[in-house]
Amino acid sequence: MFERPRGTNDWGPGDMAKRRFVESRFTQLAGSFGFREIATPIFESLELFTAKSGPAVVNELYAFKDKGGRDLALRPEFTASILRFYVSDLRSLPKPVKVYCTGPAFRYEEPQKGRYREFFQLDAEIIGGATLPSDAEVIALAIGTMRAIGLKQVRARIGNLGMLRAFLPFEAKDQAVLLHALDKKNVPMLRDELTRLGKPELAEPLERLASLSGDARILDEAQEILGGKGKEAFDDLRRLGEALVAYGIPASDFEYDMGVVRGLDYYTGMVFEIDSPNLGAEKQVGGGGAYSLAEVFGGERVAQTGFALGLDRLVMAAEAEGAVPEPRPLDAYVVPIGAAMRPKAVEILTTLREAGLSADVDLVGRGPSKNLDYANTVGARYAVLVGEKELKGDAVAVRDLRSGKQEQVSLETLVAALRRA
Ligand code: HAM
Repeated sequence: MFERPRGTNDWGPGDMAKRRFVESRFTQLAGSFGFREIATPIFESLELFTAKSGPAVVNELYAFKDKGGRDLALRPEFTASILRFYVSDLRSLPKPVKVYCTGPAFRYEEPQKGRYREFFQLDAEIIGGATLPSDAEVIALAIGTMRAIGLKQVRARIGNLGMLRAFLPFEAKDQAVLLHALDKKNVPMLRDELTRLGKPELAEPLERLASLSGDARILDEAQEILGGKGKEAFDDLRRLGEALVAYGIPASDFEYDMGVVRGLDYYTGMVFEIDSPNLGAEKQVGGGGAYSLAEVFGGERVAQTGFALGLDRLVMAAEAEGAVPEPRPLDAYVVPIGAAMRPKAVEILTTLREAGLSADVDLVGRGPSKNLDYANTVGARYAVLVGEKELKGDAVAVRDLRSGKQEQVSLETLVAALRRA
């Protein structure tokens, strides 16, 4: 017996049906928004992730040396890989470049419910659009995906990191420490750092600012705390809210929250997070915002914005809200009545499969009644009984496994009859 590595999961057929359902809501909606799918490697050079975040981030990664002595890491997210790909190849495409990606990502976390070392993300990015419409478009896709899954409890919290950065007159390195303290809501650390930087008086207004959340009215209050700084960012936030309403997103689906800081170092402007209140400690199902990475990777300055939803947490939220539909049952289970009927049963099975119906047949050699029990247990919709007597009249018996009703159906009309049902 082997155990799976810590922080990883196996997903059985029931789980996978739910996961594929949730994923398909995202890929379909992203496609309808004009995003196109891309894929990038699961491992990258380690430097891709340390370039912006510094060497400390290695502790949070699955980093390793390959046999050629190269420093590599399993991707902890998609954004850095997508921007690397953009700078090397995709920037020749017409702008804006709208792409999405799905798959596993890896972080060296302390595992708990909803927090894993291997987890799955649904990611979308817009590169080279104008900032405000692109920000609105990604938030609309993120919220729209949750609605398309059938989730009722959707609430995005929208902030702006540019504003917070404008408030902190320090180098990027020191800003990062302060923003990290804010992100973790670690007030003692925030105060200590501001004292170290010689500006302890900023602690009080910063805490006040970060605690502001609500509708557009809080923006006036926030603007007052900032003493007129960051006017453009405030105007953008107001216009962003109006743009979301134009997308048909109800005002109750989002609020402004000046305390949204995000855990990654590359954000520069609008930032947002989406929670699912049902999930307990790991309730953040998604997050994103406007950032600058292309420049770090040798590309030109260009607007970049995007988000990732956590598939594992989305599925948990959908389960908690009863939003996942029952998986589609097997259309037909074909039962040969006696071994001699098997070749004919397989012929009929193949016809059904070729017609696009899902159909299965006994592979064990069970008798008819055991086969019917099995068909019931696997939740098949119909049993198609292939017996000598019916076949003489080019027909089979079709049993509705829900009602138990059985009728004779000609081979010619079998596909149509099952399809109709
Ligand atoms: P993130 O907030 O680090 O953002 O991750 C996005 C989502 O991935 C989280 O909200 C959460 O649902 C899920 N997630 C993250 N870590 C774990 C974990 N250990 N276990 C389970 N789920 C997890 C990003 O990754 C950015 N790249 C998003 C982005 C795209 N920003 C701009 N473009």
